[in-house]
Amino acid sequence: SMQILTTAAALHAYTEQARQAGQRVGLVPTMGALHDGHLQLVQAARAACDVVVASIFVNPTQFNNAEDFRLYPRVPEADAALLGPAGCTALFAPSVEEMYPRPAVLRFDFGDLERVMEGAHRPGHFNGVATVVSKLFHMARPHQAFFGQKDWQQVAIIRQLVADLSFDLEIVTCPTIREADGLAMSSRNRRLDATARAVAPLLHRVLETAAAQVRQGVPPTQVKAAADAALAAEPLLTPEYVEVADAETLQPLDAYVPGRAVVLCLAAHLGGVRLIDNVVVD
Ligand code: PAJ
Repeated sequence: SMQILTTAAALHAYTEQARQAGQRVGLVPTMGALHDGHLQLVQAARAACDVVVASIFVNPTQFNNAEDFRLYPRVPEADAALLGPAGCTALFAPSVEEMYPRPAVLRFDFGDLERVMEGAHRPGHFNGVATVVSKLFHMARPHQAFFGQKDWQQVAIIRQLVADLSFDLEIVTCPTIREADGLAMSSRNRRLDATARAVAPLLHRVLETAAAQVRQGVPPTQVKAAADAALAAEPLLTPEYVEVADAETLQPLDAYVPGRAVVLCLAAHLGGVRLIDNVVVD
């Protein structure tokens, strides 16, 4: 049955024992309020590894908005009940004091990777992500760590983190899991009321339209303008950004470069909830 660990020492002991026994360790970092997107990461980890640690920690240092942190959904019992059947062998659920015995002062700078999109609109966000993910990597020492394409820029930042700090592990990216109407699953979707929920699939529709235009060779600036206009036409939505960017460097494109994948990303506010989504065109 699934173990529940709350201290760094217990987590380290658990994964170290597995490593000593020759087992492969998979790590799935989350902030809880679990949905099928998270559980798909756990299943992918279970398929590739012998033991799977899922962490649930609403990380205060990555919230640039105190209200967003306060309102972030927390449903620990329901989460714990979902993890075991998905293949999780240990849940790591530390307190803030356990993760941050003293305030972190180290600052990460990911250069151009964080000067765009989420990094540009949520100052300090990726510093907090890099801090907590580094701590989790040190505590768990996984062979593989699993992340969702849903947060494309986060994966790019974490890959850079792993390279720069020589973490001896592999990052595995898993596809975005969506509701039947295309809305990307997100813990924040729980906060959408019925009216906002009915509007929310527009985000993915706009991305799919834009992706079709990219495949047809419509210039990036025109694709972006059309997507901006489609979002602006919905009065309940407040768009934050739409970008047509290089999928690896994340820099906005003026023109397509043959052989390089394109990522279409957007963020918007809807009914008091901030939503992001992206689609990659190879
Ligand atoms: P959270 O938003 O809980 O997401 C945890 C993981 O689930 C991330 O890798 C995210 O990309 C993935 N995920 C979320 N929605 C998904 C979906 N619809 N389909 C596939 N994967 C999805 O991302 C974080 O937490 C935090 O920043 C964290 C990395 C845990 C650091 O605190």
